[in-house]
Amino acid sequence: MWEYTDKVKDAFLHPRNTGEIADADAIGEVGNIVCGDALKLFLKIDKETGKIIDAKFQTFGCASAIASSSALSELVKGRTLDEALKITNQDIADFLGGLPDQKMHCSVMGREALEAAIANYRGESFPSEPKEKVICKCFDVTEDKIRKVAIENHLTTVDEVTNYTKAGGGCGECRSEINALLMDIWSVKKPSKPVAPKKLTNLQKIALIQEIIEAEIRPGLQADNGDLEVIDIEGNKVIVELRGMCTGCLMSDITIGRIQEKLRELVSGEIVVETQR
Ligand code: FES
Repeated sequence: MWEYTDKVKDAFLHPRNTGEIADADAIGEVGNIVCGDALKLFLKIDKETGKIIDAKFQTFGCASAIASSSALSELVKGRTLDEALKITNQDIADFLGGLPDQKMHCSVMGREALEAAIANYRGESFPSEPKEKVICKCFDVTEDKIRKVAIENHLTTVDEVTNYTKAGGGCGECRSEINALLMDIWSVKKPSKPVAPKKLTNLQKIALIQEIIEAEIRPGLQADNGDLEVIDIEGNKVIVELRGMCTGCLMSDITIGRIQEKLRELVSGEIVVETQR
């Protein structure tokens, strides 16, 4: 049995903003009833201010799908379209006090419906690339979606991808392909610089750590709108501070762990990476 928060239970039993808007300015429809979940989001938009003044939804799915749709409808009201586009699937889950891991795909469906509705209003196609490669045929999940959701949510295992997208949760035939995608997303390029000599002086070690952070670590964080600053290096202890989107990120411990792993691989097995307390 999954543990649902009181907010999820309340939003499921008393969903806000259900139904449709007859003269909606934007409609976003995602999911597939055959695959188990579908959501249709209706938005009324003030043309002058660009703000969403009303939102309603119709959904087919489980308690989490209904709760996520309800949360989304509450979150978008009063925001401009650009502000609304900043709402992530994690924001939807957080609004509900969290969702069971296996149900995170419901929050992803909400985020997708929002993107689809705004694209509809702006006369853009959604998804933007119509000929995307389908990786999971059981749930009609494309490579683009897996890449996007994995990067946005820092997913590193096939099971996590299944929780967030359903891909891989049926016959399982696509799981090796999902794994290959994850390896491609998270693989760090082999260092173009020479690897560490066996015995390093302190100065050599500091220089090598900084070089690896600049060449191998920061570009990956910056690609996710995050960043990292090296505060100090004392012997084998590297003190850093996360910046940008990495600040306060729930996955920051995992990020620090990966940085440490990389520095241990390329500099010394004794490196310890810590954040400034
Ligand atoms: S093809 Fe992905 S689970 Fe069947």
